[in-house]
Amino acid sequence: MSAQSNTEVRRITPPDIRGRKGGEPLVCLTAYDAPMAALLDPHCDLLLVGDSVGMVVHGLPNTLPVTLEMMILHGQAVMRGSKRALVAVDMPFSTYERSKEQAFDNASRILRETGCHAVKVESGVYIADTISFMAERAIPVIGHVGLRPQASLADGGFKAKGRDAASRAKVLEEAIAADEAGAFAIVIEGVAEELAAEITGRVKAPTIGIGASAACDGQILVTPDMLGLFDWTPRFVKRYADIKGQVEDGVKAYGADVRARAFPGPDQVYTSKPS
Ligand code: KIV
Repeated sequence: MSAQSNTEVRRITPPDIRGRKGGEPLVCLTAYDAPMAALLDPHCDLLLVGDSVGMVVHGLPNTLPVTLEMMILHGQAVMRGSKRALVAVDMPFSTYERSKEQAFDNASRILRETGCHAVKVESGVYIADTISFMAERAIPVIGHVGLRPQASLADGGFKAKGRDAASRAKVLEEAIAADEAGAFAIVIEGVAEELAAEITGRVKAPTIGIGASAACDGQILVTPDMLGLFDWTPRFVKRYADIKGQVEDGVKAYGADVRARAFPGPDQVYTSKPS
């Protein structure tokens, strides 16, 4: 039963995303708060509340300290700010790896408490059983293969994957396992174009690339990276704006105005009502 009225915008669903395999490329970005979600929503098919929030919003060195509570809080904000894009929320490190029951319980909490439409898990082959356990119980799941940021301690950093034959075979195996387990989309991060093309050709789910070439069925980027908030970005990011420069210019101008007592001016002050 749906409470959707005729004037409400229809949300993109997991079957819609799945149906885009081989079709018009999927436009995806990360989002962490309501105002930015509202700006991105009309232009995106999917908004991911990525656990990159730990690094790009909370200033953490990697994604490992991110908690379920943080993801739920940011997921709720993104849901409030968006109305059209599918919203997926990352399951943070140590909330799904111990058992499929642990994963199911935490994924249900994310869906229930945020109202989002799907969860994403970084999916080594050992996570395939967990994906099928959740998918069979009506939890839409996105897999994530290749460079897995939650494995950055074990990997010794954020390292591109699939650069030799053994690593290529491993990433392909991970993608096929996620696909067969029922992931409705698969993020491929940090792999060479040939491998991304091979995975995209072999799996039924649409692939969403980040640092994985245009051979994927869609693309995702970390929004503050592509909007130019930071001096440094990974090699695969293209900057589409200069948010950092604009913020710096705006704050400098504000500081100069305050020091010169030019702000607030007559337009920004309240006047007394005649008594
Ligand atoms: O956490 C995140 O932002 C992600 C994207 C990089 C896909 O997982």
